[in-house]
Amino acid sequence: KKITPLNVLHVHGVPLLIPSKEMWDKIYNFQARPDDLIVATYPKSGTTWMQEILDMIQNDGDEEKYRQVATFDRHPVIEVAFPHKEKPDLEIALEIPSPRILKTHLPSHLIPPSIWKQNCKIIYVARNAKDCLVSYYHFHRMTSLLADPQSWEDFCEKFMSGKVAYGSWYDHVKGWWDAKDKHQILYLFYEDIKKNPKCEIYKVLDFLEKTLSEDIINKIIHHTSFEVMSKNPMTNQTAVPSNIFDHTISKFLRKGMPGDWKNYFTVAMNEKFDEHYEKKMAGATLPFCTEI
Ligand code: PPS
Repeated sequence: KKITPLNVLHVHGVPLLIPSKEMWDKIYNFQARPDDLIVATYPKSGTTWMQEILDMIQNDGDEEKYRQVATFDRHPVIEVAFPHKEKPDLEIALEIPSPRILKTHLPSHLIPPSIWKQNCKIIYVARNAKDCLVSYYHFHRMTSLLADPQSWEDFCEKFMSGKVAYGSWYDHVKGWWDAKDKHQILYLFYEDIKKNPKCEIYKVLDFLEKTLSEDIINKIIHHTSFEVMSKNPMTNQTAVPSNIFDHTISKFLRKGMPGDWKNYFTVAMNEKFDEHYEKKMAGATLPFCTEI
């Protein structure tokens, strides 16, 4: 069956993948529980990776669940209604017992207020803009949920001007960076997790006030490595119907490497991107550079 791209609704100027204003009202009024654990990201920043890390932490390193149920069926995405599911993830979330792990790509200023009110713990993962852009481009190619990206050059322009689903990468990472001082937010970076997963997992454990043995932590690192996740049908997203994710075009777990942007950016494009980046990120205290 042919799937048409999800409807784009502009909410306070941000393009979101939401069918209607009524649905947005429901999403915004979502009732969080105090023990909900939220994974928030700009798309393609390592969400699935963090979801698996958190799931294994929550299950004390037991990978059974992770072997039997696909990520997309374990952790609802607060704001998305997938065409292959019977109901929107928001409704599925209501049926899940606590403690829930919920995923969102919403910018911090559009988060359902109940999440703040319940003081839920949130883990935000940010990824270098250029790699995020490359990953998002390939995702647009392989999923029928999003409109065709057109040419690579066109997509770069759209990304830079925030005319993609979830809007501006720059505003997203900055908004959440500012929010972290006011709420229970652990702000992590994709590149750090890649470089030293153990160190970042310890940060997560600290944040969750949980301890696990070194053996279990090593097991979590192993099972959530790109190599293992990309072979597991429950985590590589091949369980999602092929009319939604066409893995013959591009894999969901595609390369999983910082620096892949170097294979896509021309020198001219890189100069233009860096100049634009400087302007957009001026004054931001985020410890990011574009040269990863
Ligand atoms: S989504 O659709 O927004 O939820 O996608 P998301 O999971 O955030 O991002 C997908 C990219 O994350 C990479 N990924 C990983 N990298 C390293 N290690 C592990 N374990 C891992 N799992 C997922 C995935 O490969 C996508 O990046 P690219 O650069 O396209 O490979």
